[in-house]
Amino acid sequence: MELVITDTADQAGVLAGGIIAADVRAGARAIGLATGSSPLGAYRELIRRHRDEDLSFAGVQAFLLDEYIDLPAGHPQSYARFIRDEFTSHIDIDDAAVHSPDGNAADLPAAAAAYEAAIAAAGPVAVQILGIGANGHIGFNEPGSSLRSRTRVKTLTPRTRADNARFFDTPDDVPTHVLTQGLGTISDAGHLVMIATGPSKAAAVAAAVEGPVSAFCPASILQMHPHVTVITDESAAAALTQGDYYRFAHANKPHWQGY
Ligand code: F6R
Repeated sequence: MELVITDTADQAGVLAGGIIAADVRAGARAIGLATGSSPLGAYRELIRRHRDEDLSFAGVQAFLLDEYIDLPAGHPQSYARFIRDEFTSHIDIDDAAVHSPDGNAADLPAAAAAYEAAIAAAGPVAVQILGIGANGHIGFNEPGSSLRSRTRVKTLTPRTRADNARFFDTPDDVPTHVLTQGLGTISDAGHLVMIATGPSKAAAVAAAVEGPVSAFCPASILQMHPHVTVITDESAAAALTQGDYYRFAHANKPHWQGY
């Protein structure tokens, strides 16, 4: 696992965008997208590189981590709509190549299995973008999630619903259930790039990176993956005990070594 601490959240986004762009240029055929605030800077950077540097997503399949259950189709806070508005409508990727779990399916377990099958058919996902919840979730794998879980229905914790209430008119409008890739599904991706910014993420980042591997901090599963890049700003790195070492390692990164 490589940990990179940037001075600002904007720098974290630019760095993450550059890393993902390098994976796409290296031939990634499938990429994994997160929603929420954390990846927005990376998406801005990827859109800029598409516009200014001929970065192309033609032929790439994109898979979202998760989707709310029972939000009306086209709801502005559905993750399918969010990713189109914030990212994929600004690059050269077909809408049909952007996939998300069907949170309106009549048979949700069947929709979960179909999503796993779609990822397997197009995958493996070469690079997966991740945010982290203040309680250590990735995707919507809340604390207690099996470390080998696959796509399935999860119940959001009150904390996550409160954290996401900023996107909805009232806190009660936040759905209670989601379809989310499992920790096993996420772990199948070739490269995991996690972005965490702001002081509210500091405890979760420290638990994920330096704490024990535990279902009670789902992001700690990153410690079991062979290729992980964690990018934080200074405030999200504040609770790390080895911050000086991570800064030293990055400052002395061999010039031939990518991310
Ligand atoms: C969303 C997702 C979640 C978020 C996490 C952080 O697709 O997978 O794990 O990444 O809840 O959300 P933000 O970035 O809004 O703080």
